[in-house]
Amino acid sequence: MKTTIIKLAGTIADRKKIKQAARVIRKGGLVAFPTETVYGLGANAVDAQAVKKIFKAKGRPSDNPLIVHVANKKDFSRLAAEVTPAAKKLISNFCPGPLTLVLKKSKMISSSVSAGLDTVAIRMPSHPVALKLIKESKVPIAAPSANLSGKPSPTDAKHVIEDLNGKIDVIIDAGKTKIGVESTVVDMTTNPPTLLRPGGITREALRRVVDKIAMRFGRGGQIAKSPGMKYRHYAPNAKLILIEGRPTQVIRKIKKRVCMYRLRGKRVGIMTIRRDHTYDADAVILVGTTPTAVARNIFHALREFDKRRVDIVLAEGIAERGMGLAVMNRLRKAATTLVRKA
Ligand code: TXA
Ligand code: MG
Repeated sequence: MKTTIIKLAGTIADRKKIKQAARVIRKGGLVAFPTETVYGLGANAVDAQAVKKIFKAKGRPSDNPLIVHVANKKDFSRLAAEVTPAAKKLISNFCPGPLTLVLKKSKMISSSVSAGLDTVAIRMPSHPVALKLIKESKVPIAAPSANLSGKPSPTDAKHVIEDLNGKIDVIIDAGKTKIGVESTVVDMTTNPPTLLRPGGITREALRRVVDKIAMRFGRGGQIAKSPGMKYRHYAPNAKLILIEGRPTQVIRKIKKRVCMYRLRGKRVGIMTIRRDHTYDADAVILVGTTPTAVARNIFHALREFDKRRVDIVLAEGIAERGMGLAVMNRLRKAATTLVRKA
C-alpha cells in the first residue's frame, strides 16, 4: 500500500487537506493524525471492518480496546449509555483536552472497538487538526497511538512513518506533539472513579474537581484493569534499566553500571534530567529538566537510543508529582529492570 503524507504548517488545520483525509476515514481507510498528546491511528469508529484494520496495521492484540475520539461534548452522551454527574464535571473542566473517560457503552459501539467490554473509552482532543478531522469525517474516530504495538508512542510524524509507512492510507504531518505522553484514562463506572492510566491531565488537577479518585494502573503488584496496561510497552530495542533514589545515589549507581556494562563490551546510553551531569557513555540524552519537558521528549529519546545502537539504557527516575506520575509509569512499563532506593 502507498501511504499518502499530507503535510500541514504546524497546527494550522488547512480545510482542503483535512477534507482529503476525512474522505479516507469515511471510505473505511486508516489515517494517522496529530493530537495534543501523541499521534493517533484513526478509523471510522462505527465501521467494524475499518476498526479491524487498525489492529492489523499495529499488530495490536484484539483484547485491547480503543479510545473513541469526538469533536463535540454532546457526543459523550451519544456514545455512552450514561454520563454520570462526576463525568459531566470532568468533561466541563477538562474537555477538549488530554482526558479519556471510560463509561458504560451505548449500542453505537461495536465489540471490535470495546474488545468485548461493556464500556467505552471516549476522548475529545484539543488539537485543532484532530478536531477538524473528526468534524469533516462526520463520524467518531477510533484511534490508538499510531505506533507498532509495543513501541514508544509517536510524538512526531517521523515516528509514525518509521512504524507504519506502507501499512496505512494517510499520515497527516503537523510536526511534534505538545504534551508527549498519552491522555489520562479514568474509569467513571466505579465509585469513586478510578485512574487507569496517568497522563496529560495530572492526578492533582483531577483531585481539584472530583475529591476522591482510586488508583489502579498496574504498579507495585496491583492488577491493571485497563487491558492495555498489562503488556510491555513503550520499549526501545535496548534493555532499559530504571534507577530510582536520592540524586547522589542515582548518579553513583549509574556510573558504576556504565563501567560494569562497558567492561562486558556493551554500548551504554544514559537518559538524564541534569544539565550539569558528568556522565561518560556511548549516548547521553538530556531528556528535559522539568517533568513537563521530560514528558514531551521521553518517547523521542527512547527511539533515539535505538538509532544510536546502544545495548543498555540507564534512566534516572523522577519524582511522581504532576507530569512525573505519567513519566514514571511509562518508564516502568518500558523497563526490563527496576533499581529501587537502597
Ligand atoms: O492520548 C491518547 O490517549 C492517545 C491519542 C491518540 O488520543 N491514544 C492512546 O490510545 O493512547 P491507546 O490505544 O494507545 O491507549 C488506550 C488505553 C489502553 O491502555 C486501553 O487498554 C485503554 O486505554 N482503554 C480503552 N478502552 C478502555 C475501556 N473500555 N476500559 C478500560 N480501558 C480502556
Ligand atoms: Mg498506545
